[in-house]
Amino acid sequence: MIIKNIKLKDFRNYNDLDLNLDSGINILYGNNAQGKTNIIEAIFLSAIGKSFRTNKDSELINLNKEKAIINVKYEASDRDGSINIEISDKKRVKINEIPLKKLSEILGKIYVVLFTPDDINILKGSPSNRRKFLNIMISQLRPLYMFALSEYTQTMNQRNTYLKQIKLENRPEDLLDIWDMKLSELGMKIFLYRKEFIEKISEKIQAVHSKITNNNEKIEIIYNFNCSGKKEYLENLRKNRRIDIIKGSTTYGIHKDDFNININNNLISAYGSQGQHRTAILSLKISELQIIYDEVGEYPILLLDDFMSELDNQRRTNLLENINNNQVIITCTEKNFFEGVKSKLYNVQNGKII
Ligand SMILES: Nc1ncnc2c1ncn2[C@@H]1O[C@H](COP(=O)(O)OP(=O)(O)OP(=O)(O)O)[C@@H](O)[C@H]1O
Ligand SMILES: [Mg+2]
Repeated sequence: MIIKNIKLKDFRNYNDLDLNLDSGINILYGNNAQGKTNIIEAIFLSAIGKSFRTNKDSELINLNKEKAIINVKYEASDRDGSINIEISDKKRVKINEIPLKKLSEILGKIYVVLFTPDDINILKGSPSNRRKFLNIMISQLRPLYMFALSEYTQTMNQRNTYLKQIKLENRPEDLLDIWDMKLSELGMKIFLYRKEFIEKISEKIQAVHSKITNNNEKIEIIYNFNCSGKKEYLENLRKNRRIDIIKGSTTYGIHKDDFNININNNLISAYGSQGQHRTAILSLKISELQIIYDEVGEYPILLLDDFMSELDNQRRTNLLENINNNQVIITCTEKNFFEGVKSKLYNVQNGKII
């Protein structure tokens, strides 16, 4: 699967970009703050429907302009297509010129795996970073997942509002039953998807990691949430009701789940070195790439934003070995970073490609 062409109109610092991409390795190089990551962001948006940098769509529109447009032409083994995203007061998406009713329908057209220096936060940062990692991978492969997730968040927000009303306005507690039923149903759905994908990672990650570390390290991924079914989920929500009312928020549920990585039986977040973190992230991401390939039967597009400079020689070689027929889009500041690797070079300067 490849992107053949991308057009940007008033997106970030681009006024009018029309860029043909090579089916192999594309290197966008240039000084800082020229617009390299903005292109990666636009491609990511075309795959996921959301940016990885911001939740505020208005930031994506060129300052002083009212509307941004992204146009992507892609080619997959069994279909060609176009994705058109218009961002103004809201986001409007068309696939092959046909408007979508729901944003989640954008998923599954092109598949991407993103590598950024921020990935280090997947293991070092808060659980929300790890959930975000899972959300991006699972959404692409199970579009219904994203739908369940947004319904879950909406329902939980309503429940939280009502919890506060119980405390402040003495509203009846038993009305919580309606939200609890809905939360337990959606929460179980999300849990099963996450469990499925953590198992898939688990099947892959040891082999990937062994290769990078020359068989020196044992790696495990551990999911810390479990629930036997809707009934148990509901019971747990009920058990926590009193404390939920006091806190004004929902304390049990899938929005609190997390996973950990163990290296040689020790928790990486507590005992891992900087290098072990970087290697584990790489193993996690390569596993993601392989899972997408297994599921879709096509190589996802790799977006490497400033990532190669994060890696030492051995890890870099290992990543390159995992790039098969993938289209790759790399950003970096030095063009001679990849001497000897067949690639197409683009110089990014102040919102233009020279
Ligand atoms: N909405 C916007 N309108 C106009 N310009 C914007 C907008 N959002 C970001 N920019 C500009 O885009 C540039 C940053 O682009 P980008 O993040 O792609 O840089 P980069 O080339 O990846 O740099 P680095 O090498 O530092 O990562 C900055 O100059 C910033 O001011
Ligand atoms: Mg950048």
